[in-house]
Amino acid sequence: MIIYSEKVMEHFTCPQNSYSMPDANAQGVYGDPACGDALIIFLKVQDNTIEEISYLVFGCCASIATSSMTSVLAKGKSLEDALSITEEDIVRALDGLPENKVHCSNLGVSALRNAINNYYESQKQA
Ligand code: FES
Ligand code: FES
Repeated sequence: MIIYSEKVMEHFTCPQNSYSMPDANAQGVYGDPACGDALIIFLKVQDNTIEEISYLVFGCCASIATSSMTSVLAKGKSLEDALSITEEDIVRALDGLPENKVHCSNLGVSALRNAINNYYESQKQA
């Protein structure tokens, strides 16, 4: 049986910022080809700051908890600071993940970086 930290259980049973955002100004998607889990992140960026962040996640309880924590860590941050959030930051903020679940933190980081890069692209075109 996998033992999760209390923090992970908190974010799994009560995920933060988990909703679809039709008026987002950027989106990022990441799917893990190994396990099939996928995450879509929505951003509302204003003045270079992530004013709002939400997501839809399809996956295991660790992917739900890491997505939730990714949103908590990124909310209110500048785009540069949000880009520098690492998998280790997310795992640490969740008080650790079981060894075989550490890769789930990659989902949040990758989807967030895709969303921010898509935002930069859309600004270039505007
Ligand atoms: Fe990813 Fe269960 S959904 S392992
Ligand atoms: Fe693959 Fe969780 S099992 S992201």
